[in-house]
Amino acid sequence: TTTAALIVAAGRGVRAGGDVAKQWRTLAGKTVLGHTVAAFARHPGIDRIVLVLHPDDLHRWTDSAVTVVTGGADRQASVRRGLDAVTEDRVLIHDAARPLVSAAVIDRVIAALDHAPGAAPAVAVTDALWRGDTQVTGVQDRAGLFRAQTPQGFRTDAIRAAHAAHGGAAADDVAVARAAGLDVSIVRGDEDNLKITHAEDFARAERLLGAGMD
Ligand code: CTP
Ligand code: MG
Repeated sequence: TTTAALIVAAGRGVRAGGDVAKQWRTLAGKTVLGHTVAAFARHPGIDRIVLVLHPDDLHRWTDSAVTVVTGGADRQASVRRGLDAVTEDRVLIHDAARPLVSAAVIDRVIAALDHAPGAAPAVAVTDALWRGDTQVTGVQDRAGLFRAQTPQGFRTDAIRAAHAAHGGAAADDVAVARAAGLDVSIVRGDEDNLKITHAEDFARAERLLGAGMD
């Protein structure tokens, strides 16, 4: 069995702001994307990395050890472009904006794919959940609710077919998979596997990356 990592990095990072898109910002001596790619490059279970970049960013990536393709207008389009370049049996689809993904999380996703067509990391919701606007109008039971992370792993043929069949927007690749009826196992995620979304997330990521360096 062969496994590819598909890293989507073609977004513009509008919510995070700044002069360059968030994946190109430097954290603890390396770009966010550099950290993300390295996490998969050093993992023995990953045979190839497919990196999806914005057409304007192609000049920024110079490492020839990865397969580079250009992305599309939204995340789903970028994933589809990336999937076209995957020839491995399995694919782990990951956000470039999650540079703190651990080897243990990658291990768990890969291991679960022995038993299911899809597997993805998540953490159980521990905060109370409210409905409302300026006032609380209701309280949502949090039992059985998870916060989804990436990498989300799939048998490549299955997720490719699911994307081809999917119309409209989807929250992530698990949503696309579920719409196609694929079973997706939940594996234990990691609180530190944050997605850099807003400007304030850089400080937390930098702290965690700095702490993890030898
Ligand atoms: N992504 C992509 N192609 C797009 C949009 C998003 O490859 N057209 C990637 C981003 O680069 C990111 C991941 O999908 O690694 C998760 O998306 P998100 O966190 O929303 O990043 P952005 O879309 O860049 O940020 P924003 O929504 O704030 O503009
Ligand atoms: Mg986005």
